[in-house]
Amino acid sequence: MYTDIHSHVIWGVDDGAETKKETFRMLKEAVADGIGTIICTPHVTPGVYEFPERTFQEHFRDAEAYIQQENLPLKLYQGAEILYTENTPRLLREGKVATMAGTNYALIEFSPTDKREHIFDALQKVAGCGMIPIIAHMERYPAIGKIEQVEEMKNRFRAKVQINARTLTRKVPLLRRGFFDKLFREGLVDYIATDTHAMEGRGTCMMAGMKAVAEKYGEVTAKRIRKMAEELVKQNSEFRIQN
Ligand SMILES: [Fe+2]
Repeated sequence: MYTDIHSHVIWGVDDGAETKKETFRMLKEAVADGIGTIICTPHVTPGVYEFPERTFQEHFRDAEAYIQQENLPLKLYQGAEILYTENTPRLLREGKVATMAGTNYALIEFSPTDKREHIFDALQKVAGCGMIPIIAHMERYPAIGKIEQVEEMKNRFRAKVQINARTLTRKVPLLRRGFFDKLFREGLVDYIATDTHAMEGRGTCMMAGMKAVAEKYGEVTAKRIRKMAEELVKQNSEFRIQN
């Protein structure tokens, strides 16, 4: 079973699922798509928009209850897709923004127009909080288009790279194609996730995405990526044991 580390499956907290019914359908759909673990990552914009934390907790509990009631082989964890703002480092340090499944990994999103300098500066600040930044859907940032840049982000800030499964199931604009091929071939892609928002349009497609990885870049690469997400969640239990 796959681990999906990027999902807007919880309804009523962002532009993801809109209703409880849609969440429940998406949970079943995830299982049918081979997913056994989901880190729920609603959009959070630290210090700019107030995140509806109470609603999220209530809806998350409802989703867990549904999984139990339907006996679905699915485990949910909490996380957030954090749009980087100047408040992000402080709020991360204060524990006021959710990390990935309670670990020190944080899923960070940028604006597609952000410059390389801004992205590097942000990653440096997130890393300075003792966090490991996971760059959400790397394919969206034209400012990062060279292998050396990705290597530098990894070496200096321990950054991880997440790519959306959907991107792999359709043609990437030719200009960036060579870059993604290299990223995969050099072993620089860490996570493939669905970033699912809805039943229709932005539904789950983990199996298709991972199949595309295996076909294009080999089984070894696909297995390594699959394991990375499993390991991330495993750190959650280790973290809890220690604390
Ligand atoms: Fe997302």
